[in-house]
Amino acid sequence: MPISFLTKRLADHLGRLVDLMSPDRLFVLVDENTHRLCLSRLTEGGTRLAEAHVITIGATDSHKTLESLAHVWKSLSENGATRHSLLINLGGGMVTDLGGFAAATFKRGIRFVNVPTTLLSMVDAAVGGKTGINFNGLKNEVGCFRESEAVVVDINFLLTLDQQNLRSGYAEMLKHALLESDRMWAEHLRFDLDNPDYAALLSMVEQSVGTKQRIVDADPHEKGLRKALNLGHTVGHAFESLALEKGQPVLHGYAVAWGLLCELYLSAKHTGFSTQQMQQTAAFIRRNYGAFAFGCQDYETLYAFMQHDKKNQGGEINFTLLGGIGDIRLDCHLTKEDVFDSLDFLREGA
Ligand code: GLY
Repeated sequence: MPISFLTKRLADHLGRLVDLMSPDRLFVLVDENTHRLCLSRLTEGGTRLAEAHVITIGATDSHKTLESLAHVWKSLSENGATRHSLLINLGGGMVTDLGGFAAATFKRGIRFVNVPTTLLSMVDAAVGGKTGINFNGLKNEVGCFRESEAVVVDINFLLTLDQQNLRSGYAEMLKHALLESDRMWAEHLRFDLDNPDYAALLSMVEQSVGTKQRIVDADPHEKGLRKALNLGHTVGHAFESLALEKGQPVLHGYAVAWGLLCELYLSAKHTGFSTQQMQQTAAFIRRNYGAFAFGCQDYETLYAFMQHDKKNQGGEINFTLLGGIGDIRLDCHLTKEDVFDSLDFLREGA
């Protein structure tokens, strides 16, 4: 299990961690945005971090490619990285996924630390050891499981989040709350995303990371329990893919929120989830995430996207549903009509 902590003084704390790890060479991976906006928080304060070799790749998921990966490998190689070197990944999920994969494969594996800069990566991508790149038109097609040495969350990045990225990351936190307990779920529904209470958010981020880490520790390679983290994602990924195909991409967390709404509806219908809690969660999602623009002419395409999910087996779509909050039901199978019903339910409230 990696060390995971929140700090207000990133350079100091990370600098101390680096001293403890005493790598022979130090590298920092950033994208063009985190280079401009976040790198100075790491290098201020006169620690070893100021001397790190900085590797920059293009921003956004379109750069999560073999070419960017090769650029990282080449920069490590040409600047003397050895098995005793350390790579710090400073960025959102794209940087932590690609950087983790670069580190996991360079010289058969060097150590890396994730410093997530978006809420989505703080509570999800940076935690749990999934690394990889997109390949052959498919998201995260090539990668491996490899845990970082540490995940260090700079509180200042949390305080400067814009509304959309706050909501996007929050959808994964809501998912964790649904997997965890009634108390955590109720706390998440009470939270005012328009006027965030940052002290409360901090403690909720800590809880969320705790939930994810507990699940990952129990099943690091996704043979069983880790599939729980797929809640909201079977339908959510299909929305994301459809939006991309239409040239109107949506943030991952928005697609997950709409996916959660559909999958809670399915849980209420098929696995005994409380209808009242489903309706309360649906109201929260509709209020904070609005509606996904789609019609019944899109249903077949959405279903086809769900059939391509890499978590499926033997031609069946594997859904993660809930029997109640914290009562996880893995590998649930539904008919196409059931799935279409849940899409109707999402559209009805729009
Ligand atoms: N994002 C889901 C997982 O890490 O398993």
